[in-house]
Amino acid sequence: MKFRRWISLLLMTIAPISGCRKHAEAPKPDSLLSAYDTETDWTDAQKIIPLSYQQSQGKRIFYQQCVWCHADATPAGPSNRSNLTPVPPLLNDGATLNAESDEFMLNIITLGGSALGKSAMMPPYGKMLSTEEIRSLIVFARAVAQPPYQPPGRPASQYSAK
Ligand code: HEC
Repeated sequence: MKFRRWISLLLMTIAPISGCRKHAEAPKPDSLLSAYDTETDWTDAQKIIPLSYQQSQGKRIFYQQCVWCHADATPAGPSNRSNLTPVPPLLNDGATLNAESDEFMLNIITLGGSALGKSAMMPPYGKMLSTEEIRSLIVFARAVAQPPYQPPGRPASQYSAK
């Protein structure tokens, strides 16, 4: 018997014992490889969140404009967040922001807190950022949200079926 044939027979005999009979799972495509950028989960440093192009634009603008008030740590050290009243929600605070519609988020970022009956400590960005940039901030917030953000279902039409 040729050695190679002998080895394969041997493997066929021991494979079931060692539990290798299970079919190998097809490799899953790695979403991190196709990501434009990534963000480390703020609540779990082991978890890396893949970001689309639009989300990565939001990340860039967030770290320029918003990190000082909507995160605890900034690239330049501790943030100003804890000095503010009311304390601004962390951008990944899904418990707060998941309940806010994209439209509300767009309005408060564009017009500032005071225009929506909230704190004027939230500045208006409508003159500084384009609508597209503000939308990218919202999708970045959705991407990092903990608990994770679930997009709302389709709104009911004004006519109900029954
Ligand atoms: C100077 C500090 C400061 C900066 C900078 C800032 N914010 Fe805020 N933000 C606040 C405060 C304070 C509130 C809370 C307002 C309230 O609840 O009355 C707030 C509220 C918000 C809310 C609404 C949260 C809710 O509870 O509904 C969103 C969304 C938001 N900010 C996004 C942003 C984004 C995006 C940026 C950057 C473009 C930004 N903020 C920059 C201070 C800031």
